[in-house]
Amino acid sequence: MAAIPKTANEPVEEAADDVTRLAEQHLVQPWPVSGSIGAEARGRILSGEGIYVTDAAGRKLIDGPAGMWCVNAGHRNRELADVMASQAMELSYNSPWYTTNTPSAVLSARLAGHAPDGVDHVFYTTGGSSAVETALRFMQFANNVKGRPEKKLIVSRQGGYHGSTYLSASLNGRPRDHDWMDSASELVVKLSCPNPFRRPDGIGIDAFCDFLVEEFRQVIEEKGAENIGAFIAEPVMASGGVIVPPPGYLKRMHALCRANDILFIADEVVTAFGRLGHVFASKDVFDIEPDMITFAKGVTSGYFPLGGVMIAGRLFEELRRSNHSEAMFAHGLTYSSHPVGCAVALKNLDILEVGLLAHTRAVSDHFQAGLKALEELPLVGEVRGLGLMACVECVADRVSNNPLTLDLEVGKRIDKHCQELGLLVRPLINMCVMSPPLTISLSQIDDMTAILRKGIELTMDDLVREGLWKG
Ligand SMILES: Cc1ncc(COP(=O)(O)O)c(C=O)c1O
Repeated sequence: MAAIPKTANEPVEEAADDVTRLAEQHLVQPWPVSGSIGAEARGRILSGEGIYVTDAAGRKLIDGPAGMWCVNAGHRNRELADVMASQAMELSYNSPWYTTNTPSAVLSARLAGHAPDGVDHVFYTTGGSSAVETALRFMQFANNVKGRPEKKLIVSRQGGYHGSTYLSASLNGRPRDHDWMDSASELVVKLSCPNPFRRPDGIGIDAFCDFLVEEFRQVIEEKGAENIGAFIAEPVMASGGVIVPPPGYLKRMHALCRANDILFIADEVVTAFGRLGHVFASKDVFDIEPDMITFAKGVTSGYFPLGGVMIAGRLFEELRRSNHSEAMFAHGLTYSSHPVGCAVALKNLDILEVGLLAHTRAVSDHFQAGLKALEELPLVGEVRGLGLMACVECVADRVSNNPLTLDLEVGKRIDKHCQELGLLVRPLINMCVMSPPLTISLSQIDDMTAILRKGIELTMDDLVREGLWKG
């Protein structure tokens, strides 16, 4: 084997093949399958600039998924890089166990200003899973202190995704999430996915919404409100396929939570920090006031691993009034309130406030309309979305809307063609998810849409030629 590069900056031309081989031999990548676990070579990305990334073959690609829905301010943002470096030189770390720092305190106050009234405290974590984990452990703790230790069930939904730690992963409801993995299933009740496209035949959207709300009401009746601690929902389900729920659904679910003293946790790991044109979408887009809001990803535009949970102040007041002033919330992370992460988040918030939120709102209709036109293609069953997140769902035939069978790997096929043409897609089984950096311009949206159209057309040709689809 050739020499191991001694530094990350060693010339890529010489080391390119070797680096891929090093990853293949030593790197365990997320979400692997047994057949290639610990021995997988994934396409290497060398650099980024704005909405583009450049791969090891030198191809410049539009970053369709913005990494993992996170590079909201775009790649190579000088302001974010500079603030990261200067904060690291000022104070790179302090123990949140015994001390505090300026960026985390200032950021908390600014986030409280964007969150619904009264949701004014923040617990920082290292990402989305740990944010969800924190919200759930806080619910458990609070109910223990309040003398109702049985009020612990968590209600989540089929199709949802909330993370990869044990408790957060137990809430997940996408196909294949639990096929080979253990989970704390005894703590979780799952409701139906609020996907209007896959609603039962013959019922309208309003009736579908009634059905979903009634299902939750029945679960509360069957399990008992005294046994249910929290309901958790992504306002728009992200990796489940950009599921925008029926109008009024979130408000009605929220009302049921309030009536039954069940905490409503809005998982805004994807929808916050501009994806829907606002810092938080719960109140500003859906007019709901959750008790907790989890966030991560776009909070630093992916420049630093940071997440957190916004928590309503009244929940702390209740604890302070309890008879157990000695009860400890035994939960904390070495990197909670990280000064560098919080400094990056403050600068990122400046960028959002001075123009990026307004820009996102201004270009969203064009983005949605351009993608919606792809429904003309016979392979496309539905295009749906909100803000700068959308999903193109492919179907075998548009009468039954059957998803294409898994082994056709249609999403992957489209992605392969698109990469040749200059676009990175996020393939999800039979779906392509688009959530580009929020800095994307109108003409770049047109480029992205044109490439995606071409990629789907080429895939249709392949499927027909291979006799896998009748067209
Ligand atoms: C809605 C939602 N919640 C939680 C998570 C988990 O976040 P992380 O991967 O940062 O732990 C994700 C990740 O995609 C997500 O989409």
